[in-house]
Amino acid sequence: MLQPRRSPPVLGSLALIIVVIGIGAAAFAYTAGWFSPQRLTPDRVVDAFKSPTGAPLGHRRNHAKGICFTGIFESNGAGSTLSQAQVFSRGEYPVLGRFNLATADPNASDAMVRVRGMGLRISTPDGQEWRTAMIDPPFFPVSTPQTFYELLIASASKDPNAMKMFSAAHPEIAAFGAWAKSAPWTGSYAEERFNSLNSFMFVDSSGAEHAVRWSLLPAAQPVPVSPADLAKRGPDLLEQEITERVRGGPLRWTMVVTVANPGDPTADPSKAWPEDRRAVGVGTLIVQQIQAERDGPCLLFVQPSF
Ligand code: HEM
Repeated sequence: MLQPRRSPPVLGSLALIIVVIGIGAAAFAYTAGWFSPQRLTPDRVVDAFKSPTGAPLGHRRNHAKGICFTGIFESNGAGSTLSQAQVFSRGEYPVLGRFNLATADPNASDAMVRVRGMGLRISTPDGQEWRTAMIDPPFFPVSTPQTFYELLIASASKDPNAMKMFSAAHPEIAAFGAWAKSAPWTGSYAEERFNSLNSFMFVDSSGAEHAVRWSLLPAAQPVPVSPADLAKRGPDLLEQEITERVRGGPLRWTMVVTVANPGDPTADPSKAWPEDRRAVGVGTLIVQQIQAERDGPCLLFVQPSF
């Protein structure tokens, strides 16, 4: 009797492998934006950060100028009512961090850069790492990555109307402009308050979610200095000052987690939450030692995801 012909199993396996590879390749092509050249991809965003000397090899593409540090985070345990992450259990955890300037130019003069930042990595014994990037304004200039990209393009444009057109299309940037004009400058990273601005979901031990933002409040009293006076202190005044200051003793910031009320915007970092929101002091960052920026421990400290 004639039997129906079956394809040998090896052909079936081959077909399966081809399909799996095809799906993988398509996913890569989609992520790279090959199907939709207009879509915003990570590469296009990164390319939009322009340094006057071209791509600054060996430096981050933004916040390119900075200085690395190590220290500890002393958690007081209060954060564990909001999050089950070990970093909020009472204890001391090692920290790797970096003070930095929001510029793509690694040779920028410190007195010329309006936004200052801090990157942190806190490691806990369970093998987790808690990474955060914060900056000193109270809100972000724009609401979304797409708009941030458009802002980078407009600010690099030679068209004298580019920024005017951008501001008309994205009026939320006015609040940031007002902050940039009026907020006092200081002569030290130690006197800055650093804010997460983005919102994050904490999950407590019962599984309940809490939308939060956080800030690091400096123990040092801010002393206002005019940009003109800052400029007189030299192009690297901030890293020189912080190196000297930490040599004199450790520096401290209190970490405060702010909890959203229902309805507060959690997907728009250009909108600050009202001042009266519940705030929980969860611990103290102690900066103990300044580390070499070049070839130091921050070299492998990769950007947290936003
Ligand atoms: C769409 C919005 C954003 C884009 C496209 C963006 C892009 C970048 C890029 C490309 C880097 C360099 C990363 C590296 O080379 O390792 C960087 C670093 C950094 N960003 Fe952003 N960023 C955004 C939003 C933010 C926000 C909301 C904050 C804080 C509130 C922030 C704070 C920082 C800090 C502190 C660093 C330096 C981190 C370090 O020292 O390692 N960024 N960002």
